Amino acid sequence: MTTAQLFTWSDSFNVGIQEVDEQHQVLVSLLNQLHEAITEHRGKAASREILDRLAEYTRTHFLLEESLMRLTHYPGFDLHKQQHEDLMKQVQDLQHKLNDEGVTITFELLQFLKGWLTTHINESDKRFGAHFKTAGLEKYTTWTKEVETTMKKKKWWWKFW
Ligand SMILES: [Fe+2]
Repeated sequence: MTTAQLFTWSDSFNVGIQEVDEQHQVLVSLLNQLHEAITEHRGKAASREILDRLAEYTRTHFLLEESLMRLTHYPGFDLHKQQHEDLMKQVQDLQHKLNDEGVTITFELLQFLKGWLTTHINESDKRFGAHFKTAGLEKYTTWTKEVETTMKKKKWWWKFW
């Protein structure tokens, strides 16, 4: 069965930092997978598993963005980090609620996540993308690629930040 996608990626979402853009596409894909699971009534456990993966990937992604912000002394860091923390808090609350009988993932929730991600990328992440560019730190592009590879291999990477 083919389900209409919740969120179609467009290059207009690019913020100009390759790793960040690639990770945003993974987030969009996970969100679409979650939408598909709900549309196809695949059951609570299946959708929960995707939501948990989405939450975990989002956490890792936020840490990468925040590290790049610290490295480039981004003036909007505090505000941006706060937005990340607020979302993670909401997702954690949701995960707790889903443990209760009768609580399920709704289309309203999917629309909320899509809306949040769209606004966050188009406004906040693009503001940081512009700053990153002016910081002239192309060398960090290579550097972050190495860090990302390390992150995938090792669990203790975060201790160094
Ligand atoms: Fe962000």
